Amino acid sequence: MAAKPALLLLLLLIMLQLAAAAAAAAPPPPPSPSPSLSCRTKCGEITIPYPFGIGTGCYREGFGLICNDTYTPPRLSILNFEYEVIDISLARGEVRVYLEASRACYNKTGYRQGGNHYMSLGGGDPYLFSTRNKFTAVGCPNHGYFVDGPGYYVSGCVSICRPSTSSLDVSCTGVGCCQSSIPAGLNFYEPYLLGMPNGSNGGDYIFQANSTPCSYGFLVDEDWFRFNTSYLSMTQDFSVPVVLDWAIRTPANCSAAKRNATTYACRSADSLCSETQNGPGYSCNCTTGYRGNPYLIGGCKDIDECKLKDKYPCYGVCTNILGSYNCTCPLGTDGDATTKNGCRKKDKFTLALKVVTGGSIGIFLAAFMCFWAYLGMQKRKLIRIKQKFFEQNGGLLLSQRMNSFKAEFKIYTKEDLEKATNNFDKERILGRGGHGIVYKGILEDKTIVAIKRSKLMDDNQSTEFATEMLILSQINHRNVVKLLGCCLEVEVPMLVYEFISNGTLYHYIHEKGNESIILFDTRLRIAAESAGALAYMHSSASTPILHGDVKSANILLDDNFTAKVSDFGASKLAPNDEFQFATLVQGTCGYLDPEYLITCQLTDKSDVYSFGIVLLELFTRKKALIFDGPEEDRSLASCFVMAMKEGRYHEILDNQVKDEARIEILEEIAELVMQCLSMSGDERPKMKEVAEKLESLRRLQQQHPWTQEHYPDEMENLLGESRQVHAKITNGYQ
Ligand SMILES: *[C@@H]1O[C@H](CO)[C@@H](O)[C@H](O)[C@H]1NC(C)=O
Ligand SMILES: *[C@@H]1O[C@H](CO)[C@@H](O)[C@H](O)[C@H]1NC(C)=O
Repeated sequence: MAAKPALLLLLLLIMLQLAAAAAAAAPPPPPSPSPSLSCRTKCGEITIPYPFGIGTGCYREGFGLICNDTYTPPRLSILNFEYEVIDISLARGEVRVYLEASRACYNKTGYRQGGNHYMSLGGGDPYLFSTRNKFTAVGCPNHGYFVDGPGYYVSGCVSICRPSTSSLDVSCTGVGCCQSSIPAGLNFYEPYLLGMPNGSNGGDYIFQANSTPCSYGFLVDEDWFRFNTSYLSMTQDFSVPVVLDWAIRTPANCSAAKRNATTYACRSADSLCSETQNGPGYSCNCTTGYRGNPYLIGGCKDIDECKLKDKYPCYGVCTNILGSYNCTCPLGTDGDATTKNGCRKKDKFTLALKVVTGGSIGIFLAAFMCFWAYLGMQKRKLIRIKQKFFEQNGGLLLSQRMNSFKAEFKIYTKEDLEKATNNFDKERILGRGGHGIVYKGILEDKTIVAIKRSKLMDDNQSTEFATEMLILSQINHRNVVKLLGCCLEVEVPMLVYEFISNGTLYHYIHEKGNESIILFDTRLRIAAESAGALAYMHSSASTPILHGDVKSANILLDDNFTAKVSDFGASKLAPNDEFQFATLVQGTCGYLDPEYLITCQLTDKSDVYSFGIVLLELFTRKKALIFDGPEEDRSLASCFVMAMKEGRYHEILDNQVKDEARIEILEEIAELVMQCLSMSGDERPKMKEVAEKLESLRRLQQQHPWTQEHYPDEMENLLGESRQVHAKITNGYQ
């Protein structure tokens, strides 16, 4: 029985020993990773961020503070050092504390009063003196300096006196006050103030004339200290702020610190470690776009830049994202939304249909709701709203297209085009349209292009440019002039086209000195090609494109006299909605659809009318408006209609046409032109029908035995054959 308690005792002893061994082997508790919720975060007005803290478990080792509430306001000071804390900055890694200035006052008998106040920041503690402090000595004559822990001289300066009658600007530059910079890495400061012995240096006048009652020496935050003359008469003690840099001193660098996750101080996910400039160690910062306390788990929080307009200016639509923000121009505008007036109305380039101006969908919808609330269900207003909607949808469509075609386009720089046109040399002007001046340009790769630049950019014209750009971007037709690119860098956008070498049809038909022969077949072909191009545009898939300004001056001819329809400045994407709306009357006198003048509605039939005039020009070789004839003959259209009615249309046809064309073909053409020139749009044929008709007449004409079409440049090579033609035609003229 006695053995049992002994055994138990033994067991107990062994267990106790094991427990003791275990306790000895256990590592010391890690530095408090985060403060408990009950930690004090304020002392008076001063906020105390972790790793600083008051009370056990509330701070990282070395960062303890005490708050003495017996003072009003409560006084915060550094644990173990008792320097009074003014403020703590996490971002700058600084703490500012008060330091009492050292003082030396001499009475007449040479008795010195006052004392030296040193400051020791300990070894291995977080704090070092910041190089933002300056050692400052005031009073004169004064030689102030300070020493480090071992007592070696660190830094100092001399301040002397000048008679007040020849005072200098008040600054701390050696008269009555002097400053010296201090090195990094200091943790100890002990100042000394020396008077100047009488007459030493032989300059006793300077030293003694205005000597101050007291001299001071102190380290001070250079941003805080401003010297003024009141310092020179001071006899009291005072304190100044001194800046201390703090950091996590062990381990001494980031890579070592990151290896030990339990002691690594940058605990927030969105934080960065950076090595300190002053002494060993590291500090933590929130990554860009975040702010808060990087020393706490989850301490760095995303900055909602959109709420800080002062710091993150955004004059457009601001969207906060993690770590950053997006600032975009409102819908319908583009540019740099972070600068004032940086967003420009896009309608210069894209919103050709005068889409809702300067507002996002949101603003538009808000306006829409207001509209609704104010005006209720009144039908008239509703139509207006619907119309606005249409415009907006059209605008969206346009900008989508804009994006899709941008890729194929070449965007030229202003310099490219200036170079290509020899700085828009007058010599390079190819023509002046209603919408802009066209220059001949030679690009770097020697391609010749035509560059159209608006003369003056008002809103109408910018809209026209935009329209043309959009429309041409959608058209790929051999008889429509090709848009190669544009330049948007300039206030006035410029369009770059393929260069069409042979000028305009107008020029070809009418210009003096250009009274060359134009074969009927060529005329018919140009007519058929132009009609084909226009028909193609009218039948364009989703939104028919109306040219709006069909005339001979807008039909270009290339090397082979192939027609290329150009100048879409007045073009419209025909609204495929029932709500059509009036636009300004555009187009050219002599070609204008009379119905359009009355209704202000551009329709595909308006183009048909204008094209009828072009046909007349082609086959009569007369201008659309003739100013030098008798009044009743001024309009080619009315002349022709009159002649037709009186059965004498032959009279106004060009002689060459009469010679070459088969009579039945001429009759058909005359009939076609009559249809095109019908007063009512409904009675005019569709462009497609016109094109088909001309095509079939062309085929018919080609069956004609002797007038096979020859292009003028081919004619030179085919002299034998064409001489006959020449002869015949010359006879025809006589
Ligand atoms: C607060 O300051 C008073 C006066 O200096 C001192 O007597 C007291 O011990 C201080 N209290 C603490 C908690 O340090
Ligand atoms: C310094 O010089 C002044 C006049 O030159 C004299 O009155 C004063 O006693 C001297 N002081 C000392 C400490 O020698």
